[in-house]
Amino acid sequence: MDVIELKHPLVEHKLAILRDKKTGTKEFRELVSELATMLCYEAMKEAETYETEIETPMTKMKVNKINEDKYAFVPILRAGTGMLDGIINLVPNAKIGHVGMYRDEKTFKPNVYYFKVPKDINKREVLILDPMLATGGSGIDAIDLLKEKGVKKIKFLCIIAAPEGIKKMQEKHPDVQIYTTSIDERLNENAYIIPGLGDAGDRVFGTK
Ligand code: PRP
Ligand code: URA
Repeated sequence: MDVIELKHPLVEHKLAILRDKKTGTKEFRELVSELATMLCYEAMKEAETYETEIETPMTKMKVNKINEDKYAFVPILRAGTGMLDGIINLVPNAKIGHVGMYRDEKTFKPNVYYFKVPKDINKREVLILDPMLATGGSGIDAIDLLKEKGVKKIKFLCIIAAPEGIKKMQEKHPDVQIYTTSIDERLNENAYIIPGLGDAGDRVFGTK
């Protein structure tokens, strides 16, 4: 399945500031949230709608609304929560699940420490949120957990993706569409994305 890389001057502009090591916590958070809004906008392009009738001050008319009950958003802790504000701006009634994971510093393998999702998750399309798709390990394990709960349709929204992570995710979960604002060059020897933006969690939460 193809990868959708958003190409837009506004995206490029915001990414340029986000990547800059001089950008501080406040601005970094705002930009992660804004880029998440843009990813969500694109990923929900074909969202399911239903027809209903409203009355404008002038006349009655038929309109289409999104059935928000059909969707759930699942950020991968910690950094994925930085994308939530931008999503909730677009889908205010969004149901949210959480997957807590951290990468082992030596093996780069993810460890799950928390998993809580809405009860009826199997009836919803799920959009996973994580700013970084590096080796793909965290995203792949999050998808495994959701599929074990019976979720059938999943999209993965990330700000930066490495070619290595995309390849691995497509091999393991070819049915999951990846939306990203940038496909970067490669991973370094510590499995960090080059050029990337550094450690997304630390930059969102100001922990380094
Ligand atoms: C980062 C990032 C992803 C993961 C990507 O999280 O937010 O979840 O690494 O790497 P991968 O594709 O190689 O699995 P990290 O484990 O550093 O945790 P944090 O968000 O708590 O900082
Ligand atoms: N996680 C991050 O936060 N940044 C990377 O470049 C890779 C994994």
